[in-house]
Amino acid sequence: MTLAIPNTLGLPSVATLGGEARSLDDLRSYQEMAAEAGLEFIVLGEGSNIVAAEEVNAFVCLNRLKGISVVNENAEVSISVGAGENWHEFVLFCTSSGYYGLENLALIPGAVGAAPIQNIGAYGVEVASFIKTVEVMDSKGDVFHLDAQACEFSYRDSVFKRLRNLTIASVTFVLSSEYRPVLTYPDIAERCDEKHHARDLLETVIDIRRAKLPDPQQVPNAGSFFKNPVVSDALRKEILALSPELKSFPDADGWKLSAAQLIDLAGWKANPTEKVSCWHNQPLVLTNLGGATSSDVLDFAEKIQSDIAQRFQIQLEVEPSLLS
Ligand code: EPU
Repeated sequence: MTLAIPNTLGLPSVATLGGEARSLDDLRSYQEMAAEAGLEFIVLGEGSNIVAAEEVNAFVCLNRLKGISVVNENAEVSISVGAGENWHEFVLFCTSSGYYGLENLALIPGAVGAAPIQNIGAYGVEVASFIKTVEVMDSKGDVFHLDAQACEFSYRDSVFKRLRNLTIASVTFVLSSEYRPVLTYPDIAERCDEKHHARDLLETVIDIRRAKLPDPQQVPNAGSFFKNPVVSDALRKEILALSPELKSFPDADGWKLSAAQLIDLAGWKANPTEKVSCWHNQPLVLTNLGGATSSDVLDFAEKIQSDIAQRFQIQLEVEPSLLS
């Protein structure tokens, strides 16, 4: 059966074959069906970080593996979660249960199984710091665990972006029963005093995100469309000479610049097409104004990329996965 591919950018997209997997056995049998039909096997969570073409010639499997089990509850709490659970619901569950660490990652759209793939991050925290193991199934149907090191996590990246034959079945997190907030972002620190609780931090993050980022249910989008670029010291100096207001942050490989600010400086917030635009409070987020297809979104993204390349000698990298 064909499958209408759910995606938060609201793009029309249909897969040649597809289905929902609620168990490891479902996953195995869908993999076999894909192999028999000679189709690529693609697993999706909630479609919140994809740009899906109108026709996707593949077997698209929606991961609906559920379940949360607290494996070990000491000072360190070990929790295994089905890849098909909703990420934000999981963060709420942890905070209300007294399992701390994920507060800064509240309200990130998508499923738990997608979190390790792009190593989701926000407000000074990356999910990689809390991942103990990831349970995967390979294309033969064998199930095994990868530890955090084998996941090769880095900024918005992991081994799962390269090993497309692995399907994430569950993720085991290590959280803490002791609350140790990360308040490195001024936006957050300003609103959390010494006596605040985890619930306050969680609500602060939710408030900030709601104010800055469009709710995909109301305004179709796939979150940040570009990664923040890392440049050499020489290029940073060159750019700062022309645009001194640009913020830069030291990074292991050079200097991280704000893609949002570059796009802003280039005036793209005021330059939408008929169907796609930059979000007014955060230009890194592209929104579907209605009736856009993947080509409309990608054409707009390319215009931004070539303009930024010309102005700043920076090649912005697209963050969501392209499904074609
Ligand atoms: N900025 C502008 N103009 C704007 C908005 C922002 O110049 O209209 C500047 C701000 O001055 C700020 C900078 O851009 O200094 C950064 O903005 P923000 O704090 O929103 O963070 P970001 O680097 O743009 C990243 C993540 C977000 C995450 C936030 C918060 C990436 C690609 N994006 O955005 O993640 O929520 O940090 O930590 O790393 C996502 O991946 O979908 C996502 C939303």
